[in-house]
Amino acid sequence: MAQLWGGRFTKETDAKVFDFNASLGFDKRLFYDDVEGSLAHVQMLAKCGIITEEEMELITGGLGSIRSDVESGKLEISGQYEDVHSFVEAVLIERIGDAGKKMHTGRSRNDQVALDMRLYTRRNVLLVRGKIHDLLESILTVIEANKETVMPGFTHLQKAQPVTLAHHFAAYFEMFRRDKDRLRDVYERMNYCPLGAGALAGTTYPLDRKFVASKLGFAAPTANSMDSVSDRDYLIEYLAALSIIMMHLSRFCEEIIIWNSNEYGFVNIDDSFATGSSIMPQKKNPDVAELTRGKTGRVYGDLVSLLTTMKSLPLAYNKDMQEDKEAAFDAMDTVADCLDVFTGMIDTLTFNKEIMERSAAKGFTNATDAADYLVGKGVPFRDAHGIIGQIVIYCDANSKSIEECTLEELRSVSEYFDEDIYEHISLNTCVDKRQTMGAPSAQSMDEFVKAAQEYLKVSEEEL
Ligand code: ARG
Repeated sequence: MAQLWGGRFTKETDAKVFDFNASLGFDKRLFYDDVEGSLAHVQMLAKCGIITEEEMELITGGLGSIRSDVESGKLEISGQYEDVHSFVEAVLIERIGDAGKKMHTGRSRNDQVALDMRLYTRRNVLLVRGKIHDLLESILTVIEANKETVMPGFTHLQKAQPVTLAHHFAAYFEMFRRDKDRLRDVYERMNYCPLGAGALAGTTYPLDRKFVASKLGFAAPTANSMDSVSDRDYLIEYLAALSIIMMHLSRFCEEIIIWNSNEYGFVNIDDSFATGSSIMPQKKNPDVAELTRGKTGRVYGDLVSLLTTMKSLPLAYNKDMQEDKEAAFDAMDTVADCLDVFTGMIDTLTFNKEIMERSAAKGFTNATDAADYLVGKGVPFRDAHGIIGQIVIYCDANSKSIEECTLEELRSVSEYFDEDIYEHISLNTCVDKRQTMGAPSAQSMDEFVKAAQEYLKVSEEEL
């Protein structure tokens, strides 16, 4: 058992306690960030005259050799070490001797782990943001190709009014665009360096915190040392943003599952993104969509777990906080995986445009437009609504759509109908006339696409 704090103890730690306390099994993924943080720390120590240049060189060389040995697989991050910080320090001392014992001067594991976790999370935010960008591009490709693909729009999962596939996908573009922006906000708010906060009360060494912060690419050092070691807000915010991403993915998945059902038949999931049944030879199941929907609960769980861990902690550091890692890593891994497979599924998804269009033609999606037609002829909207309601009852009883009624049939309900009603309630007219900003007409969608392309360009240059 290699511990950093043996001096004050007269007994060995109970083996069960050691295992219970240890975090190496899951914090080893902070290794590269731990080394990066230590490199910046010792450069600052030398610059401030707290260690000598030679000591700094020795430590830097030692850390470099540890890093390349881990990279090449020569050195495995395992063994009886409490955590990744203890592992690095112990191996360093083994390799370079006394100089290695100076690395931790003016630092505590409390500000060290706070730094490592921020460095790791900051990178992950960029990674996930890149994956959201890829998804947005895939969605935009579908939008661009389907401005004329009419489909039913739903409310209460009942056919409501005709829209286009482009318009439907544009709704998801908006959701993921907000997600991308949320990640920028998370990034900017978390981008402050906690190193130098010490255990909780700063240190008596004349550290240059600004130097370390800028070396590691942070906007500035954090402002309060107690907050610095006990703040996990950025993780909670990030997990909240990840939860919202999962909620969006889950909604999208739900629609794809419905659209892929035999009853709807709007889409075909590519064979490479579907799975079969061990007993029913005919089955092709939307497992990617279902699993993504299922994993949403898991990410919410990670968020709630972290919120609950933090909720009653007194200032400053408490060991409870070690529990942040598994939840946070799980959420990060899950979302990254889901985005990868989901985007692949969208890229290979094919659309049965005729079925969509036929579906839009059934179910009275043009009833509102028929009422609006009567309004155009001078009928008050409430009366028009009632007239079309009667026509819907008639059509239902006779298994036809409004446009399949003869002018005579229509006129028997209201004399305001004329020959031009058919043109007025054709699906294409219904879509084309919806030209307000954000509406489904091809013209409105052209505007949307232009703005979306611009957004993708500008947002890439933000961070
Ligand atoms: N493994 C610990 C964590 O993740 C590192 C900090 C330990 N600090 C302490 N005072 N025990 O939180």
